[in-house]
Amino acid sequence: MPEMSYQELKPPRRILLGPGPSNIHPRVQQAMTEPLLGHMDPYFFTVMDDIMKLLRFLFRTENELTFPISATGSAGMEASFANFLERGDTAVIGVNGFFGERMVNNALRYGADVVQLNAEWGRIIEPEVIEAVLKSRKQVKLLALVHAETSTGVLQPLTEASQLAKQCGALFLVDAVTSLGGQELAVDDWGIDICYSGSQKCISCPPGLAPFTANQTALDTLKTRTCNVPSFYLDLSLLAKYWLANGGRTYHHTAPACMFYALHEALALIAEEGLEARIQRHLRHGAALHAGLEAMGLTLHAQPGHRLSTLTTVRIPSNVDDLRVRQRLLNEFGIEIGGGLGALKGQVWRIGLMGHSSTEENVLLFLSALEKLLVEEGYSLEAGAGVSAATRNLKKK
Ligand SMILES: Cc1ncc(COP(=O)(O)O)c(C=O)c1O
Repeated sequence: MPEMSYQELKPPRRILLGPGPSNIHPRVQQAMTEPLLGHMDPYFFTVMDDIMKLLRFLFRTENELTFPISATGSAGMEASFANFLERGDTAVIGVNGFFGERMVNNALRYGADVVQLNAEWGRIIEPEVIEAVLKSRKQVKLLALVHAETSTGVLQPLTEASQLAKQCGALFLVDAVTSLGGQELAVDDWGIDICYSGSQKCISCPPGLAPFTANQTALDTLKTRTCNVPSFYLDLSLLAKYWLANGGRTYHHTAPACMFYALHEALALIAEEGLEARIQRHLRHGAALHAGLEAMGLTLHAQPGHRLSTLTTVRIPSNVDDLRVRQRLLNEFGIEIGGGLGALKGQVWRIGLMGHSSTEENVLLFLSALEKLLVEEGYSLEAGAGVSAATRNLKKK
């Protein structure tokens, strides 16, 4: 008999339609059970080489420094500020949601002088606002924006912001945690200097890795640093010595091998599907969900014309119990969705259609489950309207 009592590990199967993680493909699950290798094994280095190649394809970049950091998306964010900012540098940061706020929190911890570009939670940061602030400041080191704000469902336009950053000599940093692999993103063509993501969203790999890329312009600024990067674990120059063959493959940390296998397989699946086809799939299912929710008389929270297809925010009708609906979705249908974050807590639901979770069946199942629960909450709607509108929308293309 074991000395301690514990339950048998038997997690239930869920349909993951929250803000992440998304469901993973059986091939990704299988990859994690492959034989464990040491982090300095020659075969393991070939897996790492493939991952870098596939990530360059996904980020649409030629950047040599393109690899996953061994930690969640927040580590990609923190690595950006830890490496590219020094005490007293000016960082201009877009704040129109929870993750913009988290960026500010990070930049302040690394001693930056932070200028916030504020917008309502649910709207984009307008290019004119970015321009006015950049032009009013001398020596801005970095402009940072969240491409896909997971707390609000807003897709931030990037190309104009990128040009504005270039004009004032600032680095352009983009959080692509909820966009990479699901929304269009082109790091090189859009002039993004630094970009990070998370493995668990549109890539459909378990959480635990933060794909990261930085170009030569960004790396050149590392050479002019006056002090060491304050984080050992996130020091990109040290990480590059392990990841890049020309860096000597020097030990830095014990790489989480099974996670690398999973990412390798998830990226291979993306390459097989094709990037354009994958983005179109996300657009199709996102549009069908939006049509279905609106046909049920619900209100989408994000600014029209700037809505993500990977993450939808919908306002919770008054007199409907937020938590009860989410718990019933989970218990009776096995569907996870997210509640509101920060300022939107209790006001919106967040429905993710990311990666392997972005399917026609999931859209229709979710809409019919939600209809049943809303009716039982006393909300009146036309029976079947959501599913019919989504089905019509799916037929359009
Ligand atoms: C836009 C955005 N940035 C950063 C993060 C942080 O990523 P993680 O939770 O993987 O650390 C998230 C997580 O949801 C996110 O949505």
